[in-house]
Amino acid sequence: MSALSSRAAGIEPSRTIAMNQRARELKAAGRDIVDLTVGEPDFHPPAHVREAATRAIAEGADRYTPVAGEIVLREAVSRKLLRDSGLSYPAAQILASCGAKSALSNALLALAGPGDEVLIPTPAWLSYAEMAKLAGAVPVFEQTTAADGYKLRPERLAAALTTRTRVLILCTPSNPTVLARFPDVWILSDEVYERIRYVPEVPSPASIPAIADRVIVVGGLSKSHALTGWRLGFLAGPKAVVDACVAIQGQTTTCASSITQRAGIAALDGDQAPVAAMAAAFRVRRDRASARLAAVPGLRVSAPDGAFYLFPDVSALFGSEWRGVRIEGSDDFCLYLLEEAGVALVPGSAFGDDACVRMSFAASDAAIDLALDRIEAAVLALGNH
Ligand SMILES: Cc1ncc(COP(=O)(O)O)c(C=O)c1O
Repeated sequence: MSALSSRAAGIEPSRTIAMNQRARELKAAGRDIVDLTVGEPDFHPPAHVREAATRAIAEGADRYTPVAGEIVLREAVSRKLLRDSGLSYPAAQILASCGAKSALSNALLALAGPGDEVLIPTPAWLSYAEMAKLAGAVPVFEQTTAADGYKLRPERLAAALTTRTRVLILCTPSNPTVLARFPDVWILSDEVYERIRYVPEVPSPASIPAIADRVIVVGGLSKSHALTGWRLGFLAGPKAVVDACVAIQGQTTTCASSITQRAGIAALDGDQAPVAAMAAAFRVRRDRASARLAAVPGLRVSAPDGAFYLFPDVSALFGSEWRGVRIEGSDDFCLYLLEEAGVALVPGSAFGDDACVRMSFAASDAAIDLALDRIEAAVLALGNH
């Protein structure tokens, strides 16, 4: 068989999905595993959203839609961006995609290519780097630290920017006004977690006039409306960029699912109370889980301001031994937890920070409590070796 392309050979598969897969295999083999790997709400989508999808099927919404998405959906996204983020984009500057992931990869394909650098503050979702590589560009990482609240300091950002930097990807709330001095850099602002936050309104970089014409805002319904499998995301930005993304999508996925688009209209225009209720439930879990983890000797954790992940620092446990093997990093620690305690987490190395592991608290209270009991016992056992 001929070799795969260098592009395919250079791509690292998602390690979150790999850990999730391993947990599924162990479960299928009869092991009792608590899987806290993926960031997937354990709630079902709001009833009115599910009803809209059922109605769309009954009404025969079976066909391809325009590549950018049905105009009614794009208008609903436009209203949502104004309502929730104070951003003003007409439907012509909005593209609906198969999840935020597809919107992000369209944007990177449109903006970066061979010879370009894509700057990614870490820890970060490493799909960004792989998407940049798929576009032929080089991902460049800028490490931020827990001690600094994972903030991207203006002086560090300015130092990391080079003449080859084409795109800066932001997910953590930041104020990149320093970019006013770097007019050739695009800002790709991933705002998928904007509805799931535990702090007051966080301004989008697109609301900063000095850089607004270089910002592409990406959002989606996977996390806010528990629609992960339905695949609907969107981007908004300058018309020329959106048009380029439409051209790319038109030759790749064509359009988001016609059924999901109808559901998306109901989700965006309908009652937002279920979204707030889910976010409130995540907040309670965040507080409980972070308090319990913080009480485990050897672990350090701070409660996040948004999304549904805890990143306990487990580096104090490195050097401990398990079955004669030293635990040297987050991969070893996750393996230990999975094999010995039946808890699946994702190593921090997958996000560019080997000191920590990632635990999703988008799971039932019972699953979280069981995982915490097991983590506590496993960490204490390690200390006793
Ligand atoms: C930071 C971040 N951005 C984007 C996505 C992709 O979301 P979607 O399911 O809409 O593709 C995820 C999903 O895990 C994510 O964690």
